[in-house]
Amino acid sequence: MSSGPLVVLVGPMGSGKSTVGALLAERLGVPYRDTDADIVAAEGREVSDIFVEDGEPRFRELERAAVRAALAEHTGVLALGGGAVLDDGTRALLAGLPVAYLSMDVEEAVRRVGLGAARPLLAVNPRRRWRELMEARRHLYTEVARVVVATDDRTPEEVADAVLDALELSHSPGPGPSAADAAGSREPGQEDT
Ligand code: S3P
Repeated sequence: MSSGPLVVLVGPMGSGKSTVGALLAERLGVPYRDTDADIVAAEGREVSDIFVEDGEPRFRELERAAVRAALAEHTGVLALGGGAVLDDGTRALLAGLPVAYLSMDVEEAVRRVGLGAARPLLAVNPRRRWRELMEARRHLYTEVARVVVATDDRTPEEVADAVLDALELSHSPGPGPSAADAAGSREPGQEDT
């Protein structure tokens, strides 16, 4: 039986879940998984295409199933899409798990993802949309989080360290050539999930 993920990352678009998640997985010597990537792989289409072709409700259905499967199967580091916490069942499944909420302020969010066409929900007026999304979701991220880690003005490495400290996980380096180096070479301002 699976013991569940070692770390689950939640937070808004652009908070660094994928970069930080990959770094954490490397440091902990465990695999990294991302539910958006699972959906894209299963559907053979990008998230933005699913939104346009089938609508957000269909994407949320796919997301709910992807999160459920990943929580049941994955024992490494797991990053959830920014809207996954909207689902009551998902939040119930996250109860008691080592969930870290990567928080950030709106200016940093817009700087990182505002112009990214890959984010259908931020396609028009990203600053206002992001604020609205956070108003609706902030309490949900907080509800499921065991720890909250601010990402503003921090490098992905610093955020990863802060997550490990907050969750009281050891900092042992992962084996083999360093994917952390590759992930760490990304500029903090570059797009990320
Ligand atoms: C969404 C966040 C995205 C992706 C989709 C919807 C959201 O994931 O699931 O575009 O509702 O916040 P990231 O947070 O990984 O960008």
